[in-house]
Amino acid sequence: MQSAPAPVPEGTPITVCEVGTRDGFQIERDPIPTESKIAIVNALLAAGLRHIQVTAFVSPRAVPQLADAEAVMAGIDRPSDAVFSALVPNARGAERAATAGVHAVHLVCSASETHNRKNLNRAVSETLDGFAEVMPILGRAGIAVEGGIATAFGCPFEGEVPPERLVEIARAYRERYGVTRVGLGDTTGMATPQTIRAALRALRSALPDVDVGLHLHNTRGIGLANVLVGLSEGVTRFDASVGGLGGCPFAAGATGNICTEDLVYLLQESGYPTGIDLDRMIEAAQLAQSVIGRELPGQVMKAGPRLRRFAADSVATAEG
Ligand code: COA
Ligand code: ZN
Repeated sequence: MQSAPAPVPEGTPITVCEVGTRDGFQIERDPIPTESKIAIVNALLAAGLRHIQVTAFVSPRAVPQLADAEAVMAGIDRPSDAVFSALVPNARGAERAATAGVHAVHLVCSASETHNRKNLNRAVSETLDGFAEVMPILGRAGIAVEGGIATAFGCPFEGEVPPERLVEIARAYRERYGVTRVGLGDTTGMATPQTIRAALRALRSALPDVDVGLHLHNTRGIGLANVLVGLSEGVTRFDASVGGLGGCPFAAGATGNICTEDLVYLLQESGYPTGIDLDRMIEAAQLAQSVIGRELPGQVMKAGPRLRRFAADSVATAEG
């Protein structure tokens, strides 16, 4: 049994990566206008977000909603300190991402065979082999790489995913391709405090130089509780979606990511700086909600920051 790692000390900056315009939009059926996507990315930048997974360079037949990836990348503001990433499944996607000027790519491979086949139409081993074609394209373009592992904490088709399976895939990223940054994706919100702890400890023990980030969904209501477990195990990178958008169209029962402004609120109130302005983040969430046209699950966008004060006469006094 590994000894517990040091929890992330208070005051340590935490990287929040916005994935709403990729993970969030991909599950929306009605087409979202390209200009609205651009406006949302720009609102996120204005809120101080500096890591944004803007889109995915995938088959437009698989994910029609993201067919405008190039146009979105071309239209967004480009502050010099922003890191724009995109999900890429194959060499074609890598070439498109390089041409569009992304700084980082999120590769994707599922921990479970069934989800990988539904998501990428190939076996896990074929997906991992396929990165041999993808990596040189990214290397030539100077693009940073995060090795994504989807269904990392459970698969809606196959059930439990043992930590050894995560080690096996992370080892392929590290040893075959030199990727030292891995993201564990809880595609359908099956992660629990115990499975997160077990996964992080197994990875740290087997691959101590691999930096592990968490991509959590709030499908079962414990997304932010899982963030606290991640922090207690030394994790400093978390993905989240504005307003709590999100879900994988190729996984049964997938729902929203953890919500960015709720996460920012939690981190801020726990003493971890994020560089994100909560009020402006709430504005970005309200913009996303008006674009999507239905109520989003985010909670801080409804209640406001903790010390939001109301006029005393804004509610009636109980009488009698
Ligand atoms: N960008 C644009 N088009 C692409 C593409 C890419 N990255 N990769 C493949 N295509 C096109 C091919 O050109 C081909 O087009 P055609 O039918 O007009 O000739 C078509 O898509 C099918 O290509 P093929 O290589 O046979 O792939 P496939 O049908 O086996 O699908 C993937 C494999 C990986 C391309 C597809 O499953 C995919 O894009 N998945 C992404 C899923 C996703 O984003 N999931 C969310 C993450 S949780
Ligand atoms: Zn996701």
